[in-house]
Amino acid sequence: MSGAPADGGRHLLSVSDLGSEGIEEVLRVADAFVEVARRPIPKVPALRGRTVVTLFAEESTRTRLSFETAARRLSADVMSFSMAGSSAKKGESLRDTVETVTAMGVDALVVRHPCAGAAHQVARWVDAAVVNAGDGWHEHPTQALLDCYTIRQVLAERAGRDPASVGMECFDGLRVAIVGDIRHSRVARSGIWALAALGARVTLVAPGSLLPTSLQGWPVERTASDLDTVLPEVDVCYLLRLQLERGVGAHLPSLREYTAGYGLTARRAGLLAEDALVMHPGPMNRGVEIADEVADLPRSVVLRQVANGVAVRMAVLFLLLGAGVGADVGALVGEGE
Ligand code: NCD
Repeated sequence: MSGAPADGGRHLLSVSDLGSEGIEEVLRVADAFVEVARRPIPKVPALRGRTVVTLFAEESTRTRLSFETAARRLSADVMSFSMAGSSAKKGESLRDTVETVTAMGVDALVVRHPCAGAAHQVARWVDAAVVNAGDGWHEHPTQALLDCYTIRQVLAERAGRDPASVGMECFDGLRVAIVGDIRHSRVARSGIWALAALGARVTLVAPGSLLPTSLQGWPVERTASDLDTVLPEVDVCYLLRLQLERGVGAHLPSLREYTAGYGLTARRAGLLAEDALVMHPGPMNRGVEIADEVADLPRSVVLRQVANGVAVRMAVLFLLLGAGVGADVGALVGEGE
């Protein structure tokens, strides 16, 4: 992927590898795939004959399905490897598992793992392209890309424009609040870097116990602990799921108190500007970080995020595997099945 200096663009491991140009390239290619998704047969032959493996060492439904749908819509062969219930349980190392799977002839490995750095490690062992689908608390680059895509799409539609005609200037000065469990969130880490690279102004809103111990070097404008004062000032309110499985409970007095201070309740949603967006990466804890009725408001774009995830992941796989120098996405997506 261009704009990825560390590895010549063979992998997508971190949003910061991409830079603003790399992000823009993914979003522009995704425009073509959003159009493909609207066709009666939403499939193109771009990756025919290539094999994509999803290797998930952590439970996930939406991310795995999203990547697998993306790969199938590009006509790739898809293999799905679940490490729970696999040879890893029998004591095989991650390296042996990865080398065994890639020995079958694999072009791309989509890796999710509970340990930060796992995808980087896998990328050192294999010739295949590696996509980080979430490594511990560290990064979740495709989530950040699909979130940026969704923001640009909604802003474009509101302005009565085709999203493909809108450049990255729509992020310039955009005020985004990321609310909740920042400390344990790979979504927040990738999102902050992507949004800041595109020119957005990011505010983190969380109790002190859910912020990382240091924010040195993080491109955020400010942190705040009073959500009510932040909400009227933002264009996007991005809620994070409380990562209960990562021990977040130890950092909070109780879920009820968390919701009282940081949940987007119906009352709080009323403080948002009329056109402000509500986003969430899913899965949502309704009644905890987002009230039931708020999750279903028109301003909540959660399902759009999911839908765009497929097109954005198609773009990522296409750029890593399908786009030789000078590849013409327009010509490729023109050839329907
Ligand atoms: C996110 C994840 O797993 O990091 N979800 C996802 O990718 N579908 C966010 C979360 O689980 O809170």
